[in-house]
Amino acid sequence: GADTPQWRPALHFSPAAHWMNDPNGPILLDGVYHLFYQYNPGGMVWGPMSWGHATSPDLLHWHEQAIALRAKPGEDMFSGTVILDRDNRSGLGNVQHPALLAFYTSVFTDHPDHPDGTQAQSLAYSLDNGATWQAYAHNPILTLQPDSRQFRDPSLTWYAAGQCWIMATVVGDAQVIKLYRSTDLLHWSFLSDFQPSGYRKPGMAWEMPLLVPLPLDGNPQDMRWVMLVSVNPWSIAGGSGVQYFIGRFDGVHFTPDALPPVGADPSAYGWLDHGADHYATARIANTGTGPPTLIGWMNNWDYAQDVPTAPWRGQMTLPAELALKTLDGHPTLVQAPAQPYRDWLARQGMRTYPDRMVGRDRPWRAPFRGDVLDIRLTLRRGDGTRAGLVVRQTPDGKTGTVISYDFTTADLIVDRGHSGDVGFSPKFSPVHIAHLAAPGGVVSLHVVIDRCSVEVFANDGVLRMTDLVFPPADGTNVSLFSTAGSTRFSALRVTVLNR
Ligand code: FRU
Repeated sequence: GADTPQWRPALHFSPAAHWMNDPNGPILLDGVYHLFYQYNPGGMVWGPMSWGHATSPDLLHWHEQAIALRAKPGEDMFSGTVILDRDNRSGLGNVQHPALLAFYTSVFTDHPDHPDGTQAQSLAYSLDNGATWQAYAHNPILTLQPDSRQFRDPSLTWYAAGQCWIMATVVGDAQVIKLYRSTDLLHWSFLSDFQPSGYRKPGMAWEMPLLVPLPLDGNPQDMRWVMLVSVNPWSIAGGSGVQYFIGRFDGVHFTPDALPPVGADPSAYGWLDHGADHYATARIANTGTGPPTLIGWMNNWDYAQDVPTAPWRGQMTLPAELALKTLDGHPTLVQAPAQPYRDWLARQGMRTYPDRMVGRDRPWRAPFRGDVLDIRLTLRRGDGTRAGLVVRQTPDGKTGTVISYDFTTADLIVDRGHSGDVGFSPKFSPVHIAHLAAPGGVVSLHVVIDRCSVEVFANDGVLRMTDLVFPPADGTNVSLFSTAGSTRFSALRVTVLNR
């Protein structure tokens, strides 16, 4: 199709051209963020998979670099992780110049040495900060016996208590996560399977497992572990999404604290995001003592190959920090836009607006407009039943994305049913709904709008919703509304980011 500069994200990474899916091996090195990604350098749909590479000083402004790992005849490079081998455990670098190690999945087809369709874990290393990469001489380093099928997506976690690295991988179609350990990063020994009797469906693929240690309520004496896994299809908002489990890890087994009964509704499980467009989340490595920061692919396998952008397809989510907080007696995963974004936002300045009662059927057209906006506000329950905002709204009011809270059902709702181009796929789901408590009748929203996306962090990140939208170029208005009665909007803070 024709080029769509009106949908080019300003705050989110998208490749200049062609198809991108999962983030791979994001890592901070000497003050520079490196992002690798599943990339088809020759096409607009998923195809021979290479690792693209981009760098950024702040996770907002990106520079594309040369392809890091290029697909070869007979071998694709699927998703994985990059770490800095600081102590030269692998022997592939040296302590003065530690090697970067990329763990990826080799997918072999028509290859003389491997049965067709083999998936196995391989290693590449870089001695020049990721500019160039060499394949390890003894690849693949980890193969499943007797058949290495659907075995992919290695992610690494440093396990301080055991002074070893833990690798999580999946057998995708078996919906099982396999854990391994290593001290030299070359030889991996099997630890355990994680395959809960939880929310699984026949035909569902488990992909991109990620094990993250987190202190509960910031207390380093009370470490918990979160296991994230991307599932496709049958995610909470349809198609693909990221499920998580909170539990313990003893160096061998990951054990979830509690699991809903078999057959429970998917909403009984933990979901990283309740919107439709957040998948294949990866953790940024080497960020020191800061909170874990995740970045995902802002898309859904249901329609990713149909989205109407050109000359690129695919973009990343806003990087977000994770924390575990006790809420209502339960450890709860909360997320906030990452520190570099918050710092940058603070430097852009913001406008604050006085409190405002918005009455029934009398929406308020905001005095600001834009297609790249950061909006924070609080809704206070009045006699209105549902209230919120319409963003990317056209002057005639007919097109827009509606973000609202229903005080009667305690649901947060993002409705993109009339957001613009919705006809490119019958699977582009219109409405996403998630339960959200409103203590004291108050709900806070942090909304980031970036040309073709709407991201909502509600109640300080207790709930996240990420959705793609494809609005007309004149859809730059914002309005506040309240249904059936009035609602008080307060603490409205806005930064117009169009540049
Ligand atoms: C997730 C995924 C991974 C795989 C990669 C292939 O979106 O399916 O499981 O490694 O994409 O591009």
